[in-house]
Amino acid sequence: MMRSSSLLLLLMLCALSGRSLATVCRASDRNALLAFKAQLIDADGVLKDWDASTNCCVWTGVFCDRTHSRVGSLFVNANCRNCIGNGKLIVDPKVNGASFAASLSNLTALTQLSFNNVQIRFRFSIPPAIYTLTNLVSLSLTDCQFSGPSIPADVGKLVKLTELTLDGNRFPGGLPDSIGNLKNLNILHLENNQMTSIGSTRITLLKKLDQLVLNYNKLSGPIPKWLGGITLTGVQYGELNLHDNQFTGYIPGELCNIKPKLLILGLNKNKLNGPIPAAIGNCGQLRTLFVGDNKLSGSLPHELGKLKNFQELFAANNQLAGPLPKELGDLPNFNQMDIGHNKITGPIPSNYGPFSPDIPDPVDFTNNKLTGPIPLAMQNLPVKVFRPGNPGLCGTPLPNKCK
Ligand SMILES: *[C@@H]1O[C@H](CO)[C@@H](O)[C@H](O)[C@H]1NC(C)=O
Repeated sequence: MMRSSSLLLLLMLCALSGRSLATVCRASDRNALLAFKAQLIDADGVLKDWDASTNCCVWTGVFCDRTHSRVGSLFVNANCRNCIGNGKLIVDPKVNGASFAASLSNLTALTQLSFNNVQIRFRFSIPPAIYTLTNLVSLSLTDCQFSGPSIPADVGKLVKLTELTLDGNRFPGGLPDSIGNLKNLNILHLENNQMTSIGSTRITLLKKLDQLVLNYNKLSGPIPKWLGGITLTGVQYGELNLHDNQFTGYIPGELCNIKPKLLILGLNKNKLNGPIPAAIGNCGQLRTLFVGDNKLSGSLPHELGKLKNFQELFAANNQLAGPLPKELGDLPNFNQMDIGHNKITGPIPSNYGPFSPDIPDPVDFTNNKLTGPIPLAMQNLPVKVFRPGNPGLCGTPLPNKCK
């Protein structure tokens, strides 16, 4: 009788807590979390339910592993979309870099750790305690102002990582050689830092990589040809993204050596010149090419037509000239084309279109020097797709009839 009523009470508590079968937090894990909280200034009460008198397995951002009652995941998120209101978490200025988050080294069962928007004020690099968490599969430290001489070599100790996300920090320099130790890595996100070099060619040792994302850094000089030696599995995105950097020189055709599946190549907003290389035809699986906002010249290569799965071309704001390749019109999935603000001449090939009406602004041909009739399958598009520019174009939807 006694037992069943206490079981009922427990079930009611579980229902109230919003988590099924509440696992009870181990004391050492709870103490580690409280010691960590004590290093933060939490004026907005982001972690207000981190209270010593309650089970830490139901605290905001804390997830326990049911079988062992250990904290398995910790998501310290100051801009938590699903939480009530947003907040601010600031590391107490009295805390020094080496001891920040030191207590987290006691969370030895942790497999996922994420800090988002925990403001550390430019003072330190990734806390050393994090490198002791060798069971980590996912480490995500985003928008935290971590800085330091560069991304520390110690990240190479976290050999179980499948995801390393360090975007929105202040890391200068390049990746350490030890990145080559992270053989399980799928996702490497480093956008929005101050990196001046990609760093080690040892990234080519990572055979499970799916995303290498380096947008919004300070990468300059030519795009290294050795990047053609990386692996992108294409399991998720198959993405190499280098947009919004300061790369100069030609687009290396070697990038099309990336195997097995380069699906998305992002090179827009750099200072690249020369043509889109004919070797683009070797990027067999490519779906999306971003090369807009560079100084590219020459004509769009016919070899784009070899990319059987090609869907989207973004090449606006360059100095591309010459005629449009007819081959693009034969690709079954090609449905987005932004080539505005170039110097492209000649007719729009009659096999172009239809472009997807489901996508807002699927096409932009404005500010070129195209001539002749609009192809039948593009006549459903609005005038703003073709004008301003292109005075020589004619026919529906334009007001001027073809002579
Ligand atoms: C880890 O836990 C032990 C035992 O609870 C404690 O003595 C120690 O101070 C903790 N370590 C850190 C770095 O907080």
